[in-house]
Amino acid sequence: MKIMLIAGARPNFMKIASIVEAIQDVQRAGKHKLDMVLVHTGQHYDEKMSKTFFKDLSIPEPNINLEVGSSSHAVQTAEVMKRFEPVLLQERPDAVLVVGDVNSTIACSLVASKVAYPTDSNYSSLARPLIVHVEVGLRSDDWTMPEEINRVLTDRLSDLLFVTEPSGMKHLRAEGIPKTRIHYVGNTMVDTLLRHRQHALESTIFKRLGHDHATGADLLHAVGKRRSQGHVVDAAVLPYALVTLHRPSNVDDPETFKGILDALIQVSRHVPVIFPVHPRTVGRVKEHGLGDYCRTLEGSEPVTNDKGILHCIEPLGYLDFLCLMSHARVLLTDSGGIQEETTALGVPCVTLRKNTERPVTITHGTNRLAGTNPRSILREARASLTVKRKRSRTPPLWDGNAAQRIVSILIKRLQANKKLASRQPSSRVR
Ligand code: UD1
Repeated sequence: MKIMLIAGARPNFMKIASIVEAIQDVQRAGKHKLDMVLVHTGQHYDEKMSKTFFKDLSIPEPNINLEVGSSSHAVQTAEVMKRFEPVLLQERPDAVLVVGDVNSTIACSLVASKVAYPTDSNYSSLARPLIVHVEVGLRSDDWTMPEEINRVLTDRLSDLLFVTEPSGMKHLRAEGIPKTRIHYVGNTMVDTLLRHRQHALESTIFKRLGHDHATGADLLHAVGKRRSQGHVVDAAVLPYALVTLHRPSNVDDPETFKGILDALIQVSRHVPVIFPVHPRTVGRVKEHGLGDYCRTLEGSEPVTNDKGILHCIEPLGYLDFLCLMSHARVLLTDSGGIQEETTALGVPCVTLRKNTERPVTITHGTNRLAGTNPRSILREARASLTVKRKRSRTPPLWDGNAAQRIVSILIKRLQANKKLASRQPSSRVR
């Protein structure tokens, strides 16, 4: 059995890391003959957006890199498709596994759905690979989001659908996806977070941000947290807010972007605000002439007046960001993944969007929707800073074992297909 895993952009890497590990566990156990081919589309390509995640999460070097790079949605999607098709025909995997909702996800699913393996292929028992989608059924109902288009279409094309939260089951049934294709398994990104949480304490990010302490663990020790057998018992809360911002709807329009930055400056009068800035956002800061808000990006001193200060820094690697996220008073973000990670960590999150495709982070978790109006951002941020922390309930099966469930269901399905094909050698299974 040969499984091809696709990863393209930053939020994909933490989702595949635990799946790669689960496959490697099966390979080591030797019970099943399972080959893995890792394809990086190159949608994200630089050290800070890609390479550092492979290092931090011990993901093996990709077998194939399509090196598509950045461009418009159409060109990027088309380039992935053009470069992926020959790879698929060469490798002929039994299954192509895609995660999340980025352009690489839809591009590879679309290619896999239409490809036809040559009939003389004796490697795969299938006429085309099984399309496996991880993180299905999330819906924002906001069709201005490229991700909504990507996720709805990918779900529709998939043969095996792995759901992360209860709303996903409801949406897929309402859309008429056959029940036999759908499996509720939990969240592979949370698997990765739980696995690396202790390791992240060794991050030196606090020192690099100007604290005296060598690692996150030293800083926590210094603020007097209880420790037991080398493990932090209570998640220590340190007085800072952590921000991420990159959605086109938030940063492409100068008025909206400026309003959000104004709100963040107000927040920084209460607590320091640390803002690792996504490359898309850096581009918009320059384009809209908003450099005064983010002077630290240029290495200049921030403007100090009666207003607060945004500590703008470069994008961080996985372990540094996890360390900062774990101990922040509050996250302010427009990311989808961070809404889930803060729920898993029990850290308050203010989402700078009008909607979320991840409602479990509100019903069970720590998430509040603020939209992009500066006043409501400030109101929700203040509430998160002042109100006693709500304990988050763990969403069903966010227990660190989602990837094992996925791999075991996938193996069973591929074995069943092979059995079927050996009974009917002339007509291969679709
Ligand atoms: C993509 C995903 C989005 C995800 C985000 C996480 C789609 C439609 N969007 O958006 O869902 O939340 O990734 O980051 O797939 N750039 C670099 N270095 C890189 C990659 C990008 O500098 O390694 C810059 C380029 O200038 C590029 C810009 O960032 O134009 C945006 O990158 P792109 O992949 O087009 O989209 P994201 O905004 O990152």
